[in-house]
Amino acid sequence: MCGISAYIGYREAYPIVINGLKRLEYRGYDSAGVMIYDGKKMQLSKTKGKVSDLEAIINSNPEKKVGKIGMGHTRWATHGIPNDVNSHPHPSQSGNLVLVHNGIIENYDTIKKELIRRGYTFKSDTDTEVLVNLIEEVKKNEDCKLGKAVQLALTNVVGAYAIAVFDKDKPNELIVARLGSPIAIGVGEENNEFFVASDASPFLEYTKNAIYLEDEEMAIIRLGRPAKVHKIFDDSLVDPMIQELQLSLEQIEKGGYDHFMLKEIHEQPKAITDTFRGRMLADENIIKMSSVQDNLDKFLNANRIIIVGCGTSWHAGLVGEYLFEDLARIPVEVEYASEFRYRNPIITDKDVVIAISQSGETADTLAAIKLAKSKGAFVYGVCNVVGSSIARETHAGAYTHAGPEIGVASTKAFTTQITVLTLIALKLGQANKSLSDERFKNYIQKMQLIPSQIQKLLNIDSKVKEIAAIYKDAKNCLYLGRGFNFPVALEGALKLKEISYIHAEGYPAAEMKHGPIALIDENMPIFVIATNKGHYDKVVSNIQEIKSRAGKIIAVVTEGDVTVKEIADHVIEIPETEEALTPLLTTIPFQLLSYHIAVMLGKNVDQPRNLAKSVTVE
Ligand code: F6R
Repeated sequence: MCGISAYIGYREAYPIVINGLKRLEYRGYDSAGVMIYDGKKMQLSKTKGKVSDLEAIINSNPEKKVGKIGMGHTRWATHGIPNDVNSHPHPSQSGNLVLVHNGIIENYDTIKKELIRRGYTFKSDTDTEVLVNLIEEVKKNEDCKLGKAVQLALTNVVGAYAIAVFDKDKPNELIVARLGSPIAIGVGEENNEFFVASDASPFLEYTKNAIYLEDEEMAIIRLGRPAKVHKIFDDSLVDPMIQELQLSLEQIEKGGYDHFMLKEIHEQPKAITDTFRGRMLADENIIKMSSVQDNLDKFLNANRIIIVGCGTSWHAGLVGEYLFEDLARIPVEVEYASEFRYRNPIITDKDVVIAISQSGETADTLAAIKLAKSKGAFVYGVCNVVGSSIARETHAGAYTHAGPEIGVASTKAFTTQITVLTLIALKLGQANKSLSDERFKNYIQKMQLIPSQIQKLLNIDSKVKEIAAIYKDAKNCLYLGRGFNFPVALEGALKLKEISYIHAEGYPAAEMKHGPIALIDENMPIFVIATNKGHYDKVVSNIQEIKSRAGKIIAVVTEGDVTVKEIADHVIEIPETEEALTPLLTTIPFQLLSYHIAVMLGKNVDQPRNLAKSVTVE
């Protein structure tokens, strides 16, 4: 939800800020803007559209690029439609201050009315313009420095924010603050330059040293001295931890692929191998996860496990439900974090909550965690982004180690989340003896094969492309699966709709006859997962029911399948594995299919309309 990129130092700010925005564009991309300070005046450029549109505008006004201080923003609209005026940065009424903001100021309307009463006028419909003018008003009334004015203003604000503020009367300083939205500060050698960004990707090539502000912290960044970090609400000083970044440039570039999504689909064998690393010790027949081992009594004595997440992460949670119940015999409930947080759920200290999130910043999931903690539950996180808010907020957890996922449609995050959940379920199943030694060993052996099986499966790309070409103009699609593969049907449908804008629904295969069957005719492609274990015969019957209503059947089957091949219009084969592990394979053809359809339809695969990678608003 919105990306912030800012710079203060000895280099030209514009290339750093604009390239930073390009890397952060996954966070929001409906409008963009930059401010560059040339030592005398602030040069503001803003536009509706992508960062590339902004760049084109600025390229024809090169004087707007000159200066060693700058800030930029790529927006995912909350208050006010995406247009030039609503784009950030927002100057204050006097033109002295300028601010970029990621988040939502919930009480902006009350503040705005008060500011209007005091003579302020507003050009945009945003909450951000209200905040910058509130800071200006406080600064004027209190006759204080910018840092103090920001702090006082923020004590009057309800909502979530990561902000960077600049005052042209204090041109060696940036003020940064955070509550609920992430912000990182890159620190140059001997504090001779600073970078501010929503994540560290914009400054990777300049410094490996970063400070991640915690919630309720603000930093006064002044050239030539260490960043001064203190609490927003009680003034106490914080000794900021300077972390060494592990991320490499290579990880955040496309590496020869046309799109990040395709790169990330192809990265899955490696990503899952990285998820296994140090955890799956096949020779010793153990799964080593200290975060589970150290809390084994909590997991094993839990009344139930509640899994919370949103979107694709929620789908991974659904696969988790099947895994935990089947392999460890622990009852599981899976909840949309957004519903869970508001429905006064019954939670006790005998419950274990597992929160799943790629970004680790999703506002609803974060709120669900806080609620579960307040009711005494033990909360375990499964996150991809190291050091993210959810990773910090949970009692313990496991990283998925998928590496940066930049394509907005989640791919490798999903399969690595399922991998982590499988490892935990196996570990618990072994510990509580729900799994015999023999079954445990068998799973470990089959798990080890998954990365190479996915590698092999990726060779079906050209076949999937042919299928994509046939069905790309469909208006509606149905995805069906049962058991472990029901969530994969949901995920397949989500992938298709989010990047190709084709309406798609996922259903448990047997539920089809309770409604969706009415949709089936010769124009309706139906993607069915019919792997050879589990409910194969039942799914075959469902396929027959589709066939007799003239629906087009694209089936994902196990290698060597005979029966479905005779009925379906197209089949895609996955390698043989245990039923519980099939989601890691059946997902792959659907990812590729969505990708190819979206490309064929000319859609923006990595940045689908209206979406953002990290949903930090509710
Ligand atoms: C779908 C997708 C979203 C996210 C959801 C949760 O491809 O990416 O549905 O899965 O917004 O995000 P995280 O996992 O970051 O909490």
